[in-house]
Amino acid sequence: MLQSERDRQDQWLRTLPDKHGGARTALLPILQDIQARYSQIDGHTMQVVADLLGIHPVEVYSVVSFYSLFTSEPKGRFIIRLCDTISCAMQGKNQVARQLETDLGIKFGETTKDGMFSLEWAHCLGLCDRGPALLVNENVYTEVTPARVHEILEECRRQFGIHALMKEQS
Ligand code: FES
Repeated sequence: MLQSERDRQDQWLRTLPDKHGGARTALLPILQDIQARYSQIDGHTMQVVADLLGIHPVEVYSVVSFYSLFTSEPKGRFIIRLCDTISCAMQGKNQVARQLETDLGIKFGETTKDGMFSLEWAHCLGLCDRGPALLVNENVYTEVTPARVHEILEECRRQFGIHALMKEQS
């Protein structure tokens, strides 16, 4: 990350305690905001959050590493998590997985070269009766078919296009 981007990020991070409160209980919502905006919570960011909340960086790291929805490694703008548990497996999760890999040209555990998509396995998402289920960032999709994969990816690309345009105009 360039220094100017880092400065902008730090400035934005400093606004988060006002939004969520500066107590230790604000840690989770703050981390959720960071993950949603940057698709990653790196070491520097964990240190800044710890300073803002007056807690030890190890505490921040332990939360980031405990929850699979947080990641300290660079990931795609859209993280697609497909349920890998038995009910979804019985409802066609493998076909959906193959379609995702084919359409994106990557395997599970990888990120596309343009930094747009990451593919990951997830444990049961609690939607077993409507499988196969997947998450794209925080959005839930159920009864996903290979045919619907294309639609979901297009929706992400459209959304990204709108965000990029809004960013350009701001
Ligand atoms: S088994 Fe896939 S959501 Fe529960």
